[in-house]
Amino acid sequence: MLFSTYLRFVILFTITIFKPSVSLNLSIVQFTEAFTSLYNNQNVVPSIDGKSVEISMNQWTTSGSGFISRNAYYYGLFTASIKLPNNRYSAGVVATFYAQSHELNRDEIDFEFLGHIESEKWVLQTNIYGNGSVNKGREERYTLPFDPSEDCHNYTILWNTGRIVFYVDDCPIREVENVESMGGDFPSQPMFLYGTIWDGSDWATQNGKYRVDFQHGSFVTSYSSFVINGCRVDQVESTPMECDIALPSGISDIERSKMNVFRSKYMTYSYCHDTARYRATLPECGVEGPGMQPVEAPISGASSRFI
Ligand SMILES: *[C@@H]1O[C@H](CO)[C@@H](O)[C@H](O)[C@H]1NC(C)=O
Ligand SMILES: *[C@@H]1O[C@H](CO)[C@@H](O)[C@H](O)[C@H]1NC(C)=O
Ligand SMILES: *[C@@H]1O[C@H](CO)[C@@H](O)[C@H](O)[C@H]1NC(C)=O
Repeated sequence: MLFSTYLRFVILFTITIFKPSVSLNLSIVQFTEAFTSLYNNQNVVPSIDGKSVEISMNQWTTSGSGFISRNAYYYGLFTASIKLPNNRYSAGVVATFYAQSHELNRDEIDFEFLGHIESEKWVLQTNIYGNGSVNKGREERYTLPFDPSEDCHNYTILWNTGRIVFYVDDCPIREVENVESMGGDFPSQPMFLYGTIWDGSDWATQNGKYRVDFQHGSFVTSYSSFVINGCRVDQVESTPMECDIALPSGISDIERSKMNVFRSKYMTYSYCHDTARYRATLPECGVEGPGMQPVEAPISGASSRFI
């Protein structure tokens, strides 16, 4: 008895000491190295050097197009530099960069960009699903301090066992802490990365009021400067914890105050404030601590996604 306790201690101690020291690897990977096309392949066009890709949706391929990573990842930090379609009117169009598992009870971590009518700009939506909780959206929406169809900007998902952080360029915009009350709703299955463009006319722009109109041309999104600092699921030996150490564990106090400034200026919708949809707010909404939602954020246009 005593000996086995001792043994367990020695084993734990040894694992702790001899964990390989892995450092954060932010090197850029080529599109063709890390991804392959997912559907409507003729609309998934890598650059000649293989570094970047353009995907499109038009009158001939009204279902859009997309790509998927060659590998699945069990936690990681993922960046894509994205430039959205710059058509004058892009209502109904949804452009995405997201992670999703292939389990029946799927997990998902989303950046979704929602197209706009002529007088407006793209809206960014973030969302997560865990363990198939697709009837329990956790959407947030934001306007952006720049026109995302004008230039490339970096959109990053950090996903570790303790939290998920969404970044726009160097600014964290949302932090989802893995609190106990979320249970299995916190994403914890190996996930593939995706980039897609598709027709979300039924909900994307002002709750479906404005639909995709292909007379405004082909809608093209470009992606480049991919960073995949993830734990490849086929290389994780037993638990993802072993890989987790290569990732930032969270954000600093300075970053958190930047995040809160962003949220108070640009957030236009949060599921935590949508009492029409959730008569009782989801459990993590009331949680005190670094993952909480700032309640002072201005909330308007509370249309939400029900698909
Ligand atoms: C960093 O990542 C790149 C791209 O995935 C890879 O080629 C390189 O070997 C990695 N470097 C280290 C030190 O792991
Ligand atoms: C995006 O990331 C790349 C690679 O790290 C960097 O060179 C570039 O300046 C970043 N772009 C923006 C707009 O922050
Ligand atoms: C995931 O969902 C399944 C089916 O709804 C449920 O049985 C299981 O307990 C859930 N897992 C967790 C960790 O909540």
